[in-house]
Amino acid sequence: MCYVITNNDGGFPAPVNPKLPATVASEAIRSDAPALSSSFRLRRPRGPMCAKGYCSQCEIVGPDGRALACQVAAHAAPPPTQRDLLRPLGLIAAFFPPWFYERRFLRPRRLRRLSLHVLRHLSSAGPLAAQAPAVRPRRYEEVEVEVAVVGAAAAEPGAFVVDPDSGDVPLGVYPGRTLGVLRGDRLIAVRFERLVLATGSYERLPPIPGNDLPGVVGIQAAETYAGSGALRRGLRVAAWAPREQRRRIESLATSHGLRLVWMDDRAPRAIRGRRRVRAIVTDRGRIPCDLFVVGVRQPALELALQAGATASLTTDGLPILALDDTPPWLEVRGEAAATTSGVPDVPAACDAMACLCEDVRVSDLKACVAQGFHQAELVKRRTGAMTGPCQGKLCSATVLATLRELGVDAAPTRARPLARPVTLGELAADA
Ligand code: FES
Repeated sequence: MCYVITNNDGGFPAPVNPKLPATVASEAIRSDAPALSSSFRLRRPRGPMCAKGYCSQCEIVGPDGRALACQVAAHAAPPPTQRDLLRPLGLIAAFFPPWFYERRFLRPRRLRRLSLHVLRHLSSAGPLAAQAPAVRPRRYEEVEVEVAVVGAAAAEPGAFVVDPDSGDVPLGVYPGRTLGVLRGDRLIAVRFERLVLATGSYERLPPIPGNDLPGVVGIQAAETYAGSGALRRGLRVAAWAPREQRRRIESLATSHGLRLVWMDDRAPRAIRGRRRVRAIVTDRGRIPCDLFVVGVRQPALELALQAGATASLTTDGLPILALDDTPPWLEVRGEAAATTSGVPDVPAACDAMACLCEDVRVSDLKACVAQGFHQAELVKRRTGAMTGPCQGKLCSATVLATLRELGVDAAPTRARPLARPVTLGELAADA
């Protein structure tokens, strides 16, 4: 993909970090129109949440095909249209459960082959057919090291360091203590004796109505957008965060002239708005705001789980998935090793979105459990929750915590490499 990320070209409130590029996503936030895409099933408006390319809520069709708006330079793609002509279909779909399509379209069994044939051709037509760009085959290499480290923050002298912030893609941990890495034009199999993971964390969304609205962003994304000048002075910000994050949010607001209208470690009852956040509803009433910042984090555990670590939902406060045990050759550091969310629990509201990628609501999980699906793995297959492009990064803790509330076995579902979706072209390599 040949997007060139350039510096912001001025005209924004200070301080602006010229190293932070203006992207299609940051421009959308700057112009108060953060709805960049629509969800697949219910056609709900969605916007950038993470600013780092893992939440997959900002997908647009760029000049080279599908792309994430937070990864595309502002000048490289026109702003997406704000109207979604399929929204009425989404409103109808909201009356049906996520498994409606399979149940209807794949019956009768005799016609299943034909139905799949039609669906495949439909999904490869029109804008959905945006082709992945051609990628030149990579060179395949194998290296043997004593220590491999994922995350520059944990770099050790002499270690093989994989830095996702510099463009490295850690693909997965495979048998034989092997870490797969995409680096530039190389596909590298790193054989290690010891593995250190500082993989950071993701947003842990509150299970409340409106938690998927454009304008709900993670704290790191808010800092990124503020740094690139996308948050105008006077923007009204509501923040849900544990106490230890408060100073960070206050300093973000102070240094960028934002109006912090609400901050608490208790989640609001709801987030309101149509195509973007307009207000939150708390016990004290409605508070108008333009941005809802999520400071609660879920440790990023994909690689650790692939490496054989075990995790479970925490029991104090709002549940997150935290590590229980790791193999002796694995060390997890930093935010990935967090053992608590630091905020009080929030009962899941029926209208809340549990899985954003697959449009699975808390009410869908309840309906699924009521039908007799009493294991997280079965609920995952029935509803599609945790199987979308974010691969459960944003939703695993919410889905599993909801299932636990319903008395269902909420053991984490299986984690399989790859750690993030990649095209087959990216994996093509010459040995
Ligand atoms: S904001 Fe672009 S993928 Fe998350």
